[in-house]
Amino acid sequence: MKILILGSGAREYSIALALKQTTKNLDLYFSPGNGATQNLGTNLNIEDINEIANYAKTNKIDLCIVGSEDFLAKGVVDIFKENNLTIFGPTKAAAMLESSKTFMKNFLNKYNIKTAKFLTTNDLNEAKNFIQKLTPPIVVKADGLCAGKGVIITLTHEEAIYESKKMLDGESFGDAGKSIVIEEFLEGYELSIFAICDGDNFILLPVAQDHKKLLDEDKGPNTGGMGAYAPSPLASEELLEKIKKDIIIPTLEGMKKENKEFHGVLFIGAMIVKNEPYVLEFNVRFGDPECEVLMPLIKNPLELILASTQKHLKDIKLELKNEFAVGVVCASKNYPYKNSEKSEIIIKSIPENSHISYAGVSLENNQLMASGGRILVCVGLGKNLKEAKQKAYDLCDNIHFEGKQFRKDIGFWVFKK
Ligand code: AMP
Ligand code: GLY
Repeated sequence: MKILILGSGAREYSIALALKQTTKNLDLYFSPGNGATQNLGTNLNIEDINEIANYAKTNKIDLCIVGSEDFLAKGVVDIFKENNLTIFGPTKAAAMLESSKTFMKNFLNKYNIKTAKFLTTNDLNEAKNFIQKLTPPIVVKADGLCAGKGVIITLTHEEAIYESKKMLDGESFGDAGKSIVIEEFLEGYELSIFAICDGDNFILLPVAQDHKKLLDEDKGPNTGGMGAYAPSPLASEELLEKIKKDIIIPTLEGMKKENKEFHGVLFIGAMIVKNEPYVLEFNVRFGDPECEVLMPLIKNPLELILASTQKHLKDIKLELKNEFAVGVVCASKNYPYKNSEKSEIIIKSIPENSHISYAGVSLENNQLMASGGRILVCVGLGKNLKEAKQKAYDLCDNIHFEGKQFRKDIGFWVFKK
């Protein structure tokens, strides 16, 4: 079977690794992939989605899995479907749950799904009036995709107005910020919830938790994510029932009513406030680094993905290992501010029950180089979180590249208790 995976991060690497480890006779292709996916298959480096679909047709690709949101927002799924090709992910219209925060917030309001109080606007005076009604902190968000950077938490009314103006003027995020969302700040803890969907039915994956801040104890700037673990003991059965009943089911029903039937991964960034789940955001693909800790726990990833594309999720069961996974992101020296010079990656050894998912790496003269951003994720598996964490950090200590930085406290919301 030939599978094409779109994206270049550790997320895409981890999907490939899990498929390889659970299914025989797979030929994997990546576009663009990274320096390490070359060891799992073939890197194509085709950017244009029409050309990607052409390649898939000519080369008889059996399944395309979309890792990153950019391809989805551009409509890669629509093009594949027009060409009768099999692809895992939502259409461009359904991907608006992630690509437009205005659409997402109005959708949540319309279908009575709990979220922070908000205003969507492209008018500064309207923004000012709403800001004056809120008590700081106040959250200001750009409407469009900003690679995780379009959310600003402001501490005063003046700052909220200033940031709104900068976004609306196109100064902060270009066109992505010309429409904005202003919302109340929610205080609680965040969970990453993943439902694999086929339009009508869904299968919930183990609940994960991301660590978005650069530094220990959730300090420092926001990043793409510095580590994750799953399953999270912070998600009780009672909470999961609320998430299914009050968020996932109305979302799938609502999207159908809007003529935007949802297929693929529905990723809910949830804030849990006094045991009630609120939707902070939807994403329409796997999280990164959450994917890197979920994939190693799933025994039948290909069956799950195929069942979503074939609309028969209700006939299959998710098979999970009875284990926990912890993933620690090792990033380059200047992450998330700017890129660093390339440097050699030296790996002493990879201890049992641990592995690496590679992201910002290139292969030069057969040497793997750290090429910037988030470089790789050290994943540890164990029969409990403590053991998995130990495995992940043992692996971190065995890896060297210039300026390596990583958080030392992945899982701290659980361990601090
Ligand atoms: P988003 O891209 O909307 O998930 O926002 C990025 C991060 O900003 C989230 O993961 C939260 O940590 C934080 N955030 C966003 N919206 C809110 C909110 N209304 N209250 C508190 N924190 C928020
Ligand atoms: N880890 C959060 C994201 O992938 O958006």
